[in-house]
Amino acid sequence: MLTKKTVLSTLLACIIGFAGFAQAEQKFIKTTDGTEFKFDNPKGFGDTKKKDNVKTKAEIEFLKTGKNIYVGDAEAEKRGKKRFGYWSCTQCHGPTAKGQVGPGLVGPTFKYPKNATNKGMIETIWFGTDGGMGGKGYGVMAADDGMTLDELLKTIAWVRTNGSSGLTGNENVK
Ligand code: HEC
Repeated sequence: MLTKKTVLSTLLACIIGFAGFAQAEQKFIKTTDGTEFKFDNPKGFGDTKKKDNVKTKAEIEFLKTGKNIYVGDAEAEKRGKKRFGYWSCTQCHGPTAKGQVGPGLVGPTFKYPKNATNKGMIETIWFGTDGGMGGKGYGVMAADDGMTLDELLKTIAWVRTNGSSGLTGNENVK
């Protein structure tokens, strides 16, 4: 029989459980070996124009929900296009990310299906793959080199503009 007390404590557990869930960060999984990783290098954050390593609004939102708020933001996409060139993505994936030595990145299908999502694509680019794509994340390329999460979000926002399927990578997030 349910007493008032058990009902109340169950309710309380639900509320606490829900709050914990709402605050939890996303889990990030390497595309290489399927193990979990964290964005825990402070230098891997921030707007590269400011060079201050202060977490941007976009980074905070991405860590919490997996959403890339730069998708559809023309200024961010323009910057992302420049970073795509700066980090030599162009050399392997072509000037409009449709493929060259490396595969096309505009989808809607991908070698690694999770790259249809922005979270999946970040996991792939941060640590690389076992099939010829080196990791580009900060501290992964070399101990003191690499992209910040913010510039990778901008780069991916631009990559998404080149597809004709309307894929944004944010389809599965709120
Ligand atoms: C030296 C060449 C090279 C450079 C530079 C490079 N890539 Fe790649 N990339 C590849 C290759 C090769 C693959 C295929 C890897 C595989 O099959 O595992 C790949 C795969 C990918 C994938 C997965 C595609 C899929 O279909 O699942 C993404 C996303 C990606 N690269 C993004 C980038 C971005 C963004 C940059 C720049 C920051 C970049 N790459 C720089 C060679 C490169």
